Amino acid sequence: MTEPLIFELSSPGRCAAVLPALDVPASELPAGLVREDLPLPEVSELDLVRHYTHLSQMNYAVDVGYYPLGSCTMKYNPKINEDLCRLPGFARLHPYQDEELVQGALFVMYFLQEFLKEIGGFAAVSLQPAAGAHGELTGVLMMRAYQLDRGEAQRNVILVPDSAHGTNPATTTMSGLDVIEIPSDERGNVDLRALGTACQEHGERLVGMMLTNPNTLGLFDEHVQEITDLVHEHGGLMYGDGANMNALLGIARPGDLGFDVLHYNLHKTFSTPHGGGGPGSGPVGASERLADFLPAPIVTRDPVRTDGDEVFYTFTDPPKSIGRVKSFYGQFGVMARAYTYIRMLGAAGLRRVAEYAVLNANYLMSRIKETYPVPYDRVCMHEFVCEGHFSDAPDVHALDISKRLIDYGFHPPTNYFPLIVPEALMIEPTETESKETLDRFADALLRIAEEARDDSDLLHEAPHRAPVRRLDEVQAAKELILRWEPS
Ligand SMILES: Cc1ncc(COP(=O)(O)O)c(C=O)c1O
Repeated sequence: MTEPLIFELSSPGRCAAVLPALDVPASELPAGLVREDLPLPEVSELDLVRHYTHLSQMNYAVDVGYYPLGSCTMKYNPKINEDLCRLPGFARLHPYQDEELVQGALFVMYFLQEFLKEIGGFAAVSLQPAAGAHGELTGVLMMRAYQLDRGEAQRNVILVPDSAHGTNPATTTMSGLDVIEIPSDERGNVDLRALGTACQEHGERLVGMMLTNPNTLGLFDEHVQEITDLVHEHGGLMYGDGANMNALLGIARPGDLGFDVLHYNLHKTFSTPHGGGGPGSGPVGASERLADFLPAPIVTRDPVRTDGDEVFYTFTDPPKSIGRVKSFYGQFGVMARAYTYIRMLGAAGLRRVAEYAVLNANYLMSRIKETYPVPYDRVCMHEFVCEGHFSDAPDVHALDISKRLIDYGFHPPTNYFPLIVPEALMIEPTETESKETLDRFADALLRIAEEARDDSDLLHEAPHRAPVRRLDEVQAAKELILRWEPS
């Protein structure tokens, strides 16, 4: 048992740091630089260590327990990624260094681009965008630039399925384009008839379509070829939301399925840390016709300065680039981790990732679906969506089930998304979890279903064993207070 967290630990005269001896002559700081009124806490080293260790224990993380947050791919982040990205030659780089001095970093970026090209089936990749949503914005701006380049300025519509992640319509709107929503059919695919009608009605104005495949129901769209063909026939382009690439690695390539541009979430599929708004990376892959519009710069081999085996890597701007979407070159630390992960697994290992991710999701679904109804009940990919609601316990909701899972030591799944499933619980086990963990999680869910019938207040009042109980989550997200103020 740890002591309750007390923030006010300061006591005059205590100090946790010892400064090294001066190796330059002492001199006075210029007037005005010293703030006498800065209320820095004065604490001992032990106070400091306990404070931060205690804080870290109040947090939940992949390294602490099972984290089946659907659509987020909270897989284990191998520690070798951290070792590699902390090598001094990577960690101490400065973005203003000359290309001659950073050839190792450019090598990593170049080959990461090459690996992502191969994995996605694309002609070129830019590593610039800093997140999935940022990759979406980049891709849609590229699609729009392509249409303008063809003299098709009247094209201002993007089709988005009703199962899409909220960032898809948000991206469209941010790009100054109109969203037309396409419903799903009874098997969880894009409704082909509705898509046909939308293409007929808006064909002249079509910039393209955004499609997540597998979609946010965890289902592979059975008509993906027909969809991409239809959109292309009407002069549109296909944007692939690659958040769910974990299900496809080494098995299917979006470029081969007809997608023109796609973002990868390095912080999901390629095992780099995420959560809490930490640094992500959303590189974008493009087909031949969109490659020239990629954000600048990308890393290429310099034909002039390359001599035999002596390859010189350089930054290049694609000829019709939409420009920069990020300062400097993107999140290099994240790239170094993803590069390590890909090299560590190799092609066969990446394919096994997808196979086990899909196997784990289907296993878990089969264990709970008699109790938690699965509205689109077919073989799933890397995740599935069930309903957190029971007809014989109508006052219990998905949120109550999720909060109760915390008492069992699990992070809740994604709640209430996708919007087309009432009381949605979106569960993504990932490939890195063992059968024992999946069984413990399934057992907890089944036990919670019994509790819902026997003692629903146990769920309504959950969590009982967490540092905080139920929060106003909207206020917590919108009015973040990240700094403690002394009273
Ligand atoms: C399907 C889907 N698309 C896009 C995104 C946005 O990705 P990011 O959070 O990296 O911006 C997410 C994130 O959860 C997602 O699940």
